[in-house]
Amino acid sequence: MCGIVGYAGRNAAAPVLIESLKKLEYRGYDSAGITVLGSGIETYKAVGKIINLESETPKNLGGTVGIGHTRWATHGRPSTENAHPHNSGGNPEKISIVHNGIIENYMALKERLIGEGYVFKSETDTEVIAHLLHKHIYGRPDGKEAQCELLAGLREALKEIEGSYALAILSADEPGKLVLARKDSPLVIGLGRGENFAGSDVTAFLNYTRDVIFVNDFETVVLSPVGVEIFDREGNLREKKIEKIEWDFEAAEKAGYEHFMLKEIHEQVSAIHDTLVGKVSELEGAIHLNELNLSEDEIKKLSRVQILACGTSWHAGLLGKYLFEQLAGIHCDIDICSEYRYRNPVMNDGTLAIAITQSGETADTLAAVREIMSYNCPTLAITNVVGSTITREANSVLYTRAGPEIGVAATKTFSTQLTLLYLLAVKFALVRGKLSPDYVKSFITELRKVPGEIQQILNQKEAIKECAENFARSNSYFFLGRHLNYPIALEGALKLKEISYVHAEGFAAGELKHGPIALLDEGTPVVAIATRGQTYDKMLSNIKEVKARDAYVIAVADSKDTEIGKYADIVLRVPQSNELLAPLLSVVVLQLLAYYTALARDCSIDKPRNLAKSVTVE
Ligand code: AGP
Repeated sequence: MCGIVGYAGRNAAAPVLIESLKKLEYRGYDSAGITVLGSGIETYKAVGKIINLESETPKNLGGTVGIGHTRWATHGRPSTENAHPHNSGGNPEKISIVHNGIIENYMALKERLIGEGYVFKSETDTEVIAHLLHKHIYGRPDGKEAQCELLAGLREALKEIEGSYALAILSADEPGKLVLARKDSPLVIGLGRGENFAGSDVTAFLNYTRDVIFVNDFETVVLSPVGVEIFDREGNLREKKIEKIEWDFEAAEKAGYEHFMLKEIHEQVSAIHDTLVGKVSELEGAIHLNELNLSEDEIKKLSRVQILACGTSWHAGLLGKYLFEQLAGIHCDIDICSEYRYRNPVMNDGTLAIAITQSGETADTLAAVREIMSYNCPTLAITNVVGSTITREANSVLYTRAGPEIGVAATKTFSTQLTLLYLLAVKFALVRGKLSPDYVKSFITELRKVPGEIQQILNQKEAIKECAENFARSNSYFFLGRHLNYPIALEGALKLKEISYVHAEGFAAGELKHGPIALLDEGTPVVAIATRGQTYDKMLSNIKEVKARDAYVIAVADSKDTEIGKYADIVLRVPQSNELLAPLLSVVVLQLLAYYTALARDCSIDKPRNLAKSVTVE
């Protein structure tokens, strides 16, 4: 996710930048850095919290213009080399840049720039922008004479960049100002007196000003102590509305959402999109998972996948099991890590272990990984935290690009874990000849639609809220699903119990009559996930069984389903989608149901009692 800040004023820039970065620390905190324009470009960086950067920065650093960054690693582990700002120009540096977003075509640009003589010091996608910009302004790596102004050079460089960015840039040859640009990553300007500010969100400068301008996609900004100029894509000066921020700091940190959990549920739209960036090619019907470290031959020879995870990550893994078996024809086992450690597993040749953990620090998962690695089994980690313990232990790592998740209840990390499992299963199926490139092409098209479909669900969240409020006083909830919807039923129940403290159970719907149905009573809310698919008719039968016991059925169904309304009491709709991908939509409904139930019960949603974000003890 990352946070960027900028300052142009009459005071020393460094303390203002560091204070602003502290306010953005919730956006990322694995490393941080600043550049101030003093006698030239002066950059300071540190790994870890902003406080480390503060001790690294000289106390009386001159310069009243500067930029800063707090990092949530996406490309390259947390280190001072990978921390922003990234500079270009050599000795002395000419350009300094901070970036929030992902540059999708950075590998191609990097190769080209290396060929032209640029030397890269980091593994980041951002450094490409610094050198590309330098190239447009100074012509070559050792060029010292500017051939155009920073803003003009930036406009040219942006034409070559694919991906998302909020950028703040300093040029040694244009002191007294900074230049900014935005596409698909947030950027806001704060207006002061004799000083102006920039940030990824308003929390960065709320202590200084409440007058702000929100920058739109494709706009560029020139920020100086005395003014702010904003230009459109064609370079025309724009008149922008100044808005007054009434939020207090806490509300601003949550971008106006009442809780981090609600914010993170909404962020699934961008998190899934970001997780797909660079990994799918619709044109070729190909999936690129270079981090996997498995050759096509090794994928063909796999005889088994062993998934290891806990809690919500285990639910993602369970869905993964269905996908690996159904799509790729690979036998797949899944274990809860705390059980796996003590059950003396029997190992087969050709097993790939996949450990799923959003934090990368869960003690049981780490122990299970060590156990399976003691059998020389190759291990792939799926995690959200670059540099976490699991990334140092597993043989290879795939990152969910969800950004920091602050709410204890996992939401966007779950849906991005699922996204990677879809990619893995489809990739394996393609390599093993179980799916054709044509099928994969249409699957990728469908997968790319998911963020937009999630947005449609979010736009109708009032119906889910109303439903949650109706049942907020129920003592017990049941969640039913079959096939791919079974893990989603388990996840829906876990979300509800975690944050609203209501007793909730998830069942494979077919199991109901083998015992749990005895628990059903008049009015018991039963959430039935009944999106169209191979088990839809069976699910309708289960709904009828439930209705016959006078329970209250809340169905999650497709928007075009006209039948379900005959049997269910309430129908919560998701957009009609590919049967395989429907879980990514249904889970959003269940997350919102849990959220609004907890809200109605006045629970501590972001920090539920007795729970921790990462469970680092056995
Ligand atoms: C999810 O909402 C929970 N907080 C919990 O079940 C969590 O998924 C589990 O502790 C595993 O965490 P991990 O993904 O960080 O390993």
